[in-house]
Amino acid sequence: MSTPRILFVCLGNICRSPAAEGVFRARAEQAGLLTQLDIDSAGTGDWHVGHAPDERMQRAAQRRGYPLDALRARQVTPQDLVHFDLIFAMDEQNLSDLKAMAPTDEAAAKIQLFLSLAPELAEHEVPDPYYGGPDGFDHVLDLIEVASDALLKRLSAQ
Ligand code: 4NP
Repeated sequence: MSTPRILFVCLGNICRSPAAEGVFRARAEQAGLLTQLDIDSAGTGDWHVGHAPDERMQRAAQRRGYPLDALRARQVTPQDLVHFDLIFAMDEQNLSDLKAMAPTDEAAAKIQLFLSLAPELAEHEVPDPYYGGPDGFDHVLDLIEVASDALLKRLSAQ
């Protein structure tokens, strides 16, 4: 892979996947790899298209030094699943929705759960924090940081 194209996907593209995009961008920048990567995020749903990330997610991310304010939600397309090399779903529902819209078997094979990169974690999905309390956003960031570091390590080894 010359310039790996990486897509993070959740339901609304306003909480988990923009957080993954922001955390992974920051980690890649620290490692000096940002210019060698193409990083984006999208949602399976269209309710929040054009919106900035959820304020609660923005605040939790900003406290850790990840600015998310410039990001805007968009809906994933079948073409995305052809274009991107690595597609990370936040939960099982996202994974099955993405697999169902993949135009080819090759595209479907590129989709995996983000936390599959970090099998040492007790959880295998990044839980939807939208209807929960404030702690949910920090928990999302904890999981995303671990998986982002694992992804960076994997890409650096290539
Ligand atoms: P996300 O969170 O998938 O992590 O962006 C959600 C955002 C919005 C909704 C659900 C989940 N919603 O139902 O509007």
